[in-house]
Order: sequence, then C-alpha cells, then structure tokens
Amino acid sequence: MAVPLLDFSRQHAALEAPLKEVFARVLDSGQFILGPEVEAFEQEVAAYLEVPHALGVSSGTDALTLAMMALGIEPGDEVLCPVFTFFGTAGCIARLGAVPVWVDVREDTFNIDLEDAARKVSKRTRAIVPVHLFGQPCDMQCVVAFAQSHNLWVLEDAAQAIGARYKGEPVGGFGNCGAFSFYPTKNLGGFGDGGLLTSRDSDFTERARRLRNHGMHPKYFHSDIGGNFRLDALQAALLRVKLPHLESYHAARRAHAAFYNAQLSGLEGVSLPHVRSEVESVWNQYTIRVPDGRRDELRRHLSAHGIGTEIYYPVALHEQVCFRNMGRGGESIRVGSALAASVISLPVFPEMTDRERAEVVSAVRSFSEGS
Ligand SMILES: Cc1ncc(COP(=O)(O)O)c(C=O)c1O
Repeated sequence: MAVPLLDFSRQHAALEAPLKEVFARVLDSGQFILGPEVEAFEQEVAAYLEVPHALGVSSGTDALTLAMMALGIEPGDEVLCPVFTFFGTAGCIARLGAVPVWVDVREDTFNIDLEDAARKVSKRTRAIVPVHLFGQPCDMQCVVAFAQSHNLWVLEDAAQAIGARYKGEPVGGFGNCGAFSFYPTKNLGGFGDGGLLTSRDSDFTERARRLRNHGMHPKYFHSDIGGNFRLDALQAALLRVKLPHLESYHAARRAHAAFYNAQLSGLEGVSLPHVRSEVESVWNQYTIRVPDGRRDELRRHLSAHGIGTEIYYPVALHEQVCFRNMGRGGESIRVGSALAASVISLPVFPEMTDRERAEVVSAVRSFSEGS
C-alpha cells in the first residue's frame, strides 16, 4: 500500500462545505486585503496562542523579516541562528544586511545549542532566533535567560510549531516576538502563503503593523520604510475554518508519533526523535536518524514500498552556496552537518490511517532487520 508523505485532500474534503461558504462570503464582501476577516482571525489565533497581539502577514518568511525590521536589526548587526533549520530563518537575516552567526544544534532535540551560542556571542550581537524545529519547543527558559544576560532580542521561529507548548504555555509568547507560517505543510496549513507575527509588546506590534503596510501612517504618509507583508482576507477566512480543528490535528499527529515511538524503538541503525519532558511537541515532522551513510538507502527502500519521505534538511545552512562567504562561526559546526547527512522524515499527517502507519513501520523494520 502506498503511503504519501502528506495528503491535504483528506483534511479539506472533511471541511469542503464551510471552506466553499467562506469563499462566497469573501467574494461578496469585496474586501480582499486585511480588513475584518484578517482582524477576526488575528483575534482568534491570538486567543489560541495566549498572546495579546497577533498580526496576519504574507508568509512565515515575511513574519521573520518584519519582526527583524520592527526590532530595528540593522546592516552589520549580528543575529544568532541555528544552522539546522529551513533556509528562510537565515535568509531574512542576510536580506537585511545583518550577519548570521552560525550556531550548532543539540544532538538530542535538534534545537539551538546555547553552549555554542555562548561561545559565539559578541558585542555586535543583537538577537537570537530559537527555532522550534519539527514542532518541538526550544528550552525557552534557558533561551530567555541567555538573551537577558547578553542583552539580546529573542525572535522565536515558530513556523513549524503553532500550538506547541513549553512548560504548559504556547510558543510564540516567550520571546519579544514569534513568527508562524501557514505554508500548506504546516500544522495549520493555509491555501497558499500566509504567516503570523505575535508579541506581548504593544509598541512593537504597532511598529510592525505600520511596517506591514509600507510604514504608512496615516494613509500615504510614510515615516518609515516598510514593505507589503499583508495577509489576504480570503486566506484569513479559510484559516478561521481550520483553526477550531487544530487541536484535533495535533492529537492525531501525537498518536501517530507515539505509535512510531513504540513500534520502532530498539531497531538497529535507527534513532528516534527525543522529546523533552517539559514540552508538548505538535509533531510537524517525525524525523528519525539513520547514521553511517545509510539514510539514502532507507529512503530508496521506503520509496520502493510506495512510502513518501523527505529530507528536512539535506544541507546545514552555513554550507549553503549562498552563505559560504557570509556569516561567522561555521567552522566549528559538527552536529548540524551530521544531522543533514542522517535525518529522514516519515509521514505523520493527521489523517493517516492505522493501516498506513503500520505499513510505514513494517517497511522501516524490514530495512533495519534486513541489514
Ligand atoms: C523553520 C521555518 N522557518 C521559516 C519558514 C518560512 O515560512 P514560509 O514558507 O511561510 O515563508 C518555514 C517554512 O517554510 C520554516 O519551516
């Protein structure tokens, strides 16, 4: 039986009527950018994330960029960035003319290694970007303490972790601000690009609100240079249909992850994800490690059984061609590069059936046992 890495169509089939209704409502409203649908979504998602402020924006990448602009990151400023994450985390730093300082990640959680960050922080460092990778929150108490001791801004990259909790509280509310993505593969997957910027700070939020729309206030008067980081009304309205179901999607992902943890534990040559006891992951990805150069072999084996997989991510950021002469700190990176060579993500989408996940387990087992 073939098992896709992801299948949006099952989730959307269950919501077809309300999604189509929303399309008609926005069409009739004639208001397509920002406006009441976006404001209603912002309020609902802020309540869900237990933060006072949330701004709908055009993508997760733009949420990060806008956050850095609103924090006042300037050319030449340094930003501590983990090397094992999606490109966008570092791309935003570089696009603003700031310097990514490459920080290694932890072997257990794949999240930012604060000991390495401590070795690399300098007088020019202004911010740290903890990435809640694959849905697992970073150790935010330590990140915030580290940031306070070095006088840094904390920008949480929560693109993969909406609804994930650290010590009982949702991510995105620990740092100065949090960036989320509604890219279709995310736990709250949109119907195109979309993102969110959260904060507890009302001055920061007002600055970001202006910068989201070219720094304009009032209309056609610009005291700052912003950009077009606006969210569409249709996108917000469609996301409002899905938001009430998000906890049930997380629960299904958690059940799949628990099944994998139980069924794949102890397999030779495979190491399973480690989730710290004080966090609740939302399992945007279920990522295992297959060291000793056998990861690609497992991928081919699973593909031969019709099972979809992905490599998130095949190259550590400091090794990307565009960053070879940019940033600093890359020479000491060890774990990030080893992960890029050994990780593979298995299907963990909420609507996966019991038969499908059993199929994944049996294919991974047959690889391990046949080796
Ligand atoms: C960790 C991380 N940061 C940033 C982004 C950027 O989000 P988007 O694709 O919505 O621009 C993504 C998602 O793709 C991501 O996974």
